Amino acid sequence: MVLIAPSILSADFSNLESEIARVEKAGANWLHFDVMDGLFVPNITFGAPILKAIRPKTKLFLDAHLMIMNPHNHVADFINAGADMVTIHVESYSDDTYSRLPQDTSRDFELNTSANAGSDPSPKFAAACAIKSEAISKTLKHIRALGARAGLSINPGTDISCIEPFIDQIDMVLLMSVNPGFGGQKFMPVVFEKIAAIKKMTKRVIGTEFSKGELAIEVDGGVVPGEIASQLVAAGANVLVAGSAIYKAPDVKLAIEALKNA
Ligand code: DX5
Ligand code: ZN
Repeated sequence: MVLIAPSILSADFSNLESEIARVEKAGANWLHFDVMDGLFVPNITFGAPILKAIRPKTKLFLDAHLMIMNPHNHVADFINAGADMVTIHVESYSDDTYSRLPQDTSRDFELNTSANAGSDPSPKFAAACAIKSEAISKTLKHIRALGARAGLSINPGTDISCIEPFIDQIDMVLLMSVNPGFGGQKFMPVVFEKIAAIKKMTKRVIGTEFSKGELAIEVDGGVVPGEIASQLVAAGANVLVAGSAIYKAPDVKLAIEALKNA
């Protein structure tokens, strides 16, 4: 069983309500909501007010993908607006990401790096990942405490081992198969080895229903029906995000069915 999550980033924003109804009627399971802040990624999309407006219009599971810096500042807004799943990026608290920022916006909360460095499982991990695991754990805990499911996303260029310390703190791993920021990009097959690595990390991967305690593996970016979708499902992905492959398709229902039957 694979869940299909159309990304509204490829929808006609001037008709959002009917665009959502279209995919819901066509058999979509979730609705993927791409939030971009122009800092973590070179694009700006939409925020919690749009999700709040959408919530009463659909019964679909709302899957908020936060491609933003300092997500701890914003997760409550999305959950209060009605998000069922909130996914943050493992890189959103990384030295590399911060080093790309103009200094005055770099840290709106001080991360006590020295204390944090101690808490990382191994120097190799700290070196390989250069992320602030304390901030990530706090934010994941906060998402769950507010009653939503917690997801953690990883970019194509980030080592999958960076997810391992958090594997028991999340309900979903979102594997990016494009560099985040835009729809309509070409699929990057690097995710196949990452799916295999996650399945080695945990026994919790989804069986039949996405019930509490199970871990979903979502793949996002350049996902299209046919060989790519069927190889992803065969590898163990159980949620497929698709933007252009659904909203740019001549027939949305056929596109969703083709992904579902991959
Ligand atoms: C990209 C987004 C994706 C994107 C998917 O940063 O996270 O969700 O909208 O669109 P397609 O399927 O067209 O690549
Ligand atoms: Zn996305």
